[in-house]
Amino acid sequence: MATSTASNSNATANKKKTKTSTSGKTRTVSKAKPDAKARTKRASAVAQKSAAKTKATAKARTSSDKGLSDLLEHGLKDIYYAEKKIYRALPKMIKAAEDDALVEALTSHREETAEQIETLENAFEAMGLRAKGEKCDAIDGILTEAESILDDFGGSFASDAAIIFSCQAVEHYEIARYTSLVGFADALGLDDVQELLQSILDQENAAHTKLEDLAEGSINEAASEYDEDDTDSHSDDSKSSAKAKK
Ligand SMILES: [Fe+2]
Ligand SMILES: [Fe+2]
Repeated sequence: MATSTASNSNATANKKKTKTSTSGKTRTVSKAKPDAKARTKRASAVAQKSAAKTKATAKARTSSDKGLSDLLEHGLKDIYYAEKKIYRALPKMIKAAEDDALVEALTSHREETAEQIETLENAFEAMGLRAKGEKCDAIDGILTEAESILDDFGGSFASDAAIIFSCQAVEHYEIARYTSLVGFADALGLDDVQELLQSILDQENAAHTKLEDLAEGSINEAASEYDEDDTDSHSDDSKSSAKAKK
């Protein structure tokens, strides 16, 4: 068929690059999108590798043995850990939120997060792996900072704006990770895994847009009214409290 012939000739025409791994192995890599047959071959190679890995001990493998499927596995473990932590962190944010629409958005995203954890378990299963989290320093840092921002701003005029500020950091982190993972699954020909991860990525993007709409629609504006008043009647109080903090 014309499309397949064109894609094959594109693949040939595409620039090829030689790569040498740390183990000294040299191979030629192409930037061309693989055809359906190549994708199926890659997907089955990943399945075989996963099965073989269950027999080998982690220590027996060196970093030079690792490839994209290992990076996908690492990323899945990392985001699985992150989603569980986010699920546990959200109730504190929900409790502190004052705006009804924000409470609703966070509550519904927490429910989605519970579904995402299950979707990730399905992705592990589709790769022939046991679902397992791996400590992720990035999300630990983002959530620790979120807690301290809430301690600092909770109950203030900027409380809801501060909650969105922290939650947007979480959403951006998730979007960055899922975007990469979807790309890895695509490159490996793991269509089922790609579809599962894409469904989560769509939810994260929607959550990010929802929070952005709330912040820009009313919450930032409402919070900024205090600063307006502040310049008129609270300026002396504010200066003395800033001094006290120093
Ligand atoms: Fe999530
Ligand atoms: Fe999220």
